[in-house]
Amino acid sequence: MKNILLVHGPNLNRLGRRDAHHYGTISHADLVTQVKLWAQERDASMRAYQSNHEGSLIDVLQEQGDWADGALVNFGALSHSSYALHDALVDFGKPVIEVHLSRISEREAWRRVSLTRPACVDGVEGLGPEGYRVALEALLARLA
Ligand code: DQA
Repeated sequence: MKNILLVHGPNLNRLGRRDAHHYGTISHADLVTQVKLWAQERDASMRAYQSNHEGSLIDVLQEQGDWADGALVNFGALSHSSYALHDALVDFGKPVIEVHLSRISEREAWRRVSLTRPACVDGVEGLGPEGYRVALEALLARLA
């Protein structure tokens, strides 16, 4: 059984109540439930975390590094600004796939750049919640 970490960053706790045009209507709780279900169906164990604070996200990556075989991360806007999260992913040392619900490559110029993506083995964007399923499949295939 593989252990997969799911990490969500700032404002993703507001899913379902923010910008439905870009992020859809699913709540954070329902999204996490769904992704955990997909993990369960593939016989993987999943721990999920969300924080609005950069340091807490770094703490989670450090604390869960021994447990996790890999991670799915959506750091929200911190993807576009945090060198510290990039470095934390490098230290994490396990395969990570970055997920964005919206198609960041077609939005504002500042949003098109992800500073954390280069520390990931792959990235999925613009598929909404389905992107997490695609990312999970890809991660588990790598870990098999
Ligand atoms: C997001 C894209 C980010 O640019 C934004 O700040 C978010 C959500 C996404 O999932 O599409 O909070 O990561």
